[in-house]
Amino acid sequence: MKSASLLIQNARQVLTLRSDQKGPRTGEQMEDVGIIEDGAVAVSEGRIVAVGKTEEVLGQIKVDKHAKVVEAKDKVVLPGFVDCHTHPVFAATREEEFEMRIKGKTYQEIAKTGGGIKSSVRALRSKSKQELVQLTLPRLDRMLSYGTTTIEAKSGYGLSLEDEIKMLEVIKELNRIHPVDLVPTFLGAHEVPEEYKDRRKEYMELITQRMIPEVAKRKLAVFCDIFCEKGVFDIEESRKILTAAKNNGFKLKLHADQLSALGGAKLASQVGALSADHLEFIDDEGIQMMRDAGVIGVLLPGACFGLGMKDYPPARRMIDEGVPVALATDFNPGSSMTESMPIILSLACQMMRMTPAEAVVASTINSAYAVDMEEKIGTIEMGKKADLVIWNVQNYKEIPYHYGVNLVDQVIKNGKVIQIPLPSGERDKG
Ligand code: NIG
Ligand code: FE
Repeated sequence: MKSASLLIQNARQVLTLRSDQKGPRTGEQMEDVGIIEDGAVAVSEGRIVAVGKTEEVLGQIKVDKHAKVVEAKDKVVLPGFVDCHTHPVFAATREEEFEMRIKGKTYQEIAKTGGGIKSSVRALRSKSKQELVQLTLPRLDRMLSYGTTTIEAKSGYGLSLEDEIKMLEVIKELNRIHPVDLVPTFLGAHEVPEEYKDRRKEYMELITQRMIPEVAKRKLAVFCDIFCEKGVFDIEESRKILTAAKNNGFKLKLHADQLSALGGAKLASQVGALSADHLEFIDDEGIQMMRDAGVIGVLLPGACFGLGMKDYPPARRMIDEGVPVALATDFNPGSSMTESMPIILSLACQMMRMTPAEAVVASTINSAYAVDMEEKIGTIEMGKKADLVIWNVQNYKEIPYHYGVNLVDQVIKNGKVIQIPLPSGERDKG
């Protein structure tokens, strides 16, 4: 009989997200959250060792003498959220731009006059690695407190070899010292930096010939991403960068069709990207191509909300056509200043007509697929990491329904109950 060091029992609902099908969930599979009523989860050495009805689990395991037993009566247990698209390392907030947009300026107009990504680049270059780590830690604490246990984290505010490596080393250090797991993405093609304004080709060469090989050599990133957009990197430039990244062993992601219908979704399908993200302006052909190529559509309604956009990505059409859909915050100081996944689920339901079940699937197992971690996280199944969140709700549908408040009761990371807020000095992974 297996022994357990942590037991969560008598939960009103445990959402296992289990499925016999392989691959990210599509179509009607996205309605299946695998509910167990009066459920329990047993954990040993940071892994899930049993899950089922409380009675069954108690019959399968031996509870250690010193085990922690959590009563979850009238509560709901979910896998930790996987926030599969974030830009959490930045030196300064940009609330002045927020106000400028309220007064009528567009994101692109602000970018053209030296604001936007370029202003974040100036700020980040002036900070040390240690300063950036300190600035980012409370953001990760906040993510954890809202139920996120793994994030994808991008560089992209350095835009020089040195500063991009600095950012990726910050992400690596954060992954070492903070309970949240960070999956690193190289985003050197986030913008053409000021000093290369009239030498785009040279910046392209810097990315493809120096940055990509160096980041690969130092093993500082798993993914390579690019801002494929009118006025930033066009389709042919994006193809070149992504091809170089692929040849250097990176998996691919794209910021695609966010502000215009440039064809990023189609490019993602052609180059074999794991995901295409944003997709506010995707067209029918893009949807078909992503479905046929199995590219995950990472939808970021927080960026639409943050930019005051009227049109959200066509989530309903994408799911109905069979594209696997994931959700993420896009947390960044320019377009989406939130660490909260629950508010993203609320926006997904209200603004994109996703059902609560689809939103949960999209932010757990499908987003685990979008960071290539589906074998370790994203569901509550035997052998998976014990990254679990207990919610102060009686039905999981309350999570997107009851918005703007934090309904998290407890977060369990690697099998350990995390005290929130984290007392400083207690951020160790355990
Ligand atoms: O995902 N679109 C490009 N990148 C970010 C915005 C970054 C910024 O404004 O700092 C996004 O929306
Ligand atoms: Fe982004």
